[in-house]
Amino acid sequence: MVLTGAGISAESGIKTFRDSGGLWENHRVEDVASPEGWHHDQQLVLNFYNERRKQLLECKPNRAHFALAELENKFDVTIITQNVDDLHERGGSTNIIHLHGELLKARSSVDENLIYDCSQDILEGDKCEKGSQLRPHIVWFGEAVPLMETAVPIVQCAEIFIVVGTSLVVYPAAGLVNYTRYEIPKWLVDPNDMPLPRVPHLKFINEKATIGVDYLVNLLLKES
Ligand code: APR
Repeated sequence: MVLTGAGISAESGIKTFRDSGGLWENHRVEDVASPEGWHHDQQLVLNFYNERRKQLLECKPNRAHFALAELENKFDVTIITQNVDDLHERGGSTNIIHLHGELLKARSSVDENLIYDCSQDILEGDKCEKGSQLRPHIVWFGEAVPLMETAVPIVQCAEIFIVVGTSLVVYPAAGLVNYTRYEIPKWLVDPNDMPLPRVPHLKFINEKATIGVDYLVNLLLKES
């Protein structure tokens, strides 16, 4: 089980949220990533995610994404990502849960089950098949995270738990660490010093994702 956050995509050119110069592009988070922001100014929110989508299409997966895909040669890997990019998919991983949604999808702003592929801008007036405005398929602050129900049992069964590039401050995703079994090995890859989760058998690889994940994957493949 691998839990990833913005840090794994940083070396692909996508800004993280909480490092200096973070991703909110001088907007207040609640203006562009909350239901209140959406109701207040749909155009602003659509523009913000349209820009993110354009930027994503110019980025490529990095060594860390590819290395996690290679793990599948010997392990049954599930990636639970907080990222809304598709770099794990493009890196070759096949089993990915996007807890916070996907930038390359749009959905009805009324019926959350009406979800569409979307690699272009979403504009005001773009509607779902039932006539409601489309919005980005992103879980905003204050919204439920429905895929937690899928993620928790997977974490509970995991035999190895790896965390890459997340500050572990946003819940409920950050709480997944606490569902791991006591005895299993846990690894955390991050170049910055951070408060480590208080779980047993945790090893900290204090490196950027491209170095740290590559090292860890080689180690696990060699040991298996
Ligand atoms: N390699 C690995 N980790 C890195 C790298 C790198 N090259 N560069 C930075 N990091 C680390 C930072 O040290 C930090 O711990 O990545 C982490 C990024 O943390 P955040 O910016 O908080 O991103 P994340 O944890 O993914 O945020 C969680 O919050 O804003 C919401 O919904 C959004 O999914 C996001 C969630």
